[in-house]
Amino acid sequence: MTKVVDQFLGARFGAYCVDAVEFAAGLPDASVDFSVYSPPFSSLYIYSESARDMGNVSNDAEFQATYRHLLRELFRVTRPGRLTAIHVKDLVFYSNSSDDGSRGLRPFTMESLFSHLAEGWTYHRMITISRCPVKEMQKTKADRLLYKHFREDAARTGGGLAEYVLVFRKWAPGMDETPRVTHSREEYPLDTWQDYAQPAFFTQDLWPDMRETDVLNVKAARDGQDEKHLCPMPLDIAERLVRQYTNPGETVFSPFMGIGSEGFVALKHGRRFIGSELKESYFRQAVRNLREAEHDGQAALFEGDLPEGGATLASARGIGAIGAAAE
Ligand SMILES: C[S@@+](CC[C@H](N)C(=O)[O-])C[C@H]1O[C@@H](n2cnc3c(N)ncnc32)[C@H](O)[C@@H]1O
Repeated sequence: MTKVVDQFLGARFGAYCVDAVEFAAGLPDASVDFSVYSPPFSSLYIYSESARDMGNVSNDAEFQATYRHLLRELFRVTRPGRLTAIHVKDLVFYSNSSDDGSRGLRPFTMESLFSHLAEGWTYHRMITISRCPVKEMQKTKADRLLYKHFREDAARTGGGLAEYVLVFRKWAPGMDETPRVTHSREEYPLDTWQDYAQPAFFTQDLWPDMRETDVLNVKAARDGQDEKHLCPMPLDIAERLVRQYTNPGETVFSPFMGIGSEGFVALKHGRRFIGSELKESYFRQAVRNLREAEHDGQAALFEGDLPEGGATLASARGIGAIGAAAE
């Protein structure tokens, strides 16, 4: 049975402190309208000492093998015709971690893409999120970004690392019965659609509304065990995805909820949310953020959209039983 360490049920959200794969395995078929999240970036960050922390892997192949269990469950729980979106980037490896002293990039983005294909998802879209290489150089002092090397040994230099959103669709029987996501001209004029359709989001110049610092505050969630940073998903990106790919009142799922960024946006825009997170301090911060967003997003809900009699999201979706097995 799924081991839920803690849980909090709001009127429109359910947050669970639990392993993502186990949690997803307990969700009913076709119960999720859209999932959006940043997976742990392989072994780049280990968030907790738990053996279930997906960052606790010895190499990228091991990560993808574990990750595929989740992708399989996500495919099952997603409504036919609907989508999943992940926020990823490529990773760097250094001379001291390679057998032959080489250094370069680990193609985490492509590996994650192929894992989705292997689990039945159809590749739907890639959005490039441009990041400032100067800021990256100042933060990381990466060899591959130094002007000194550009002048003296340019083969050592690379370029700034972008982030990507990969979107996949579930093509499956029953697609015609799944309600379509629709947008009115009034709420979404043509220029909004033209913005949303961009293949690249720039975090500077062209996209003044896309602030690199537009993330939920992670400081309050840190505990003494923290080894690295959380990397919260930028709210602007989550917002564009949730608004494009769901109707108000629909259910958004983040299996790696962290401090709740995807849910924060979903609730603010009148959607429902379910999230799983392994690390207790992040889970607690997520609950704080989700409660605030639920309160703020109440007005965005369509009349009569909530389950009757104060029923929780979990019971509305038939997942209440999962919460019964607290450790
Ligand atoms: C990239 S962070 C997600 C950040 C999140 N998008 C946000 O904005 O706060 C990945 C998260 O996955 C969590 N995690 C790692 N392994 C997990 C597992 N097996 N089940 C659930 N969560 C896990 C980590 O604790 C971390 O919070």
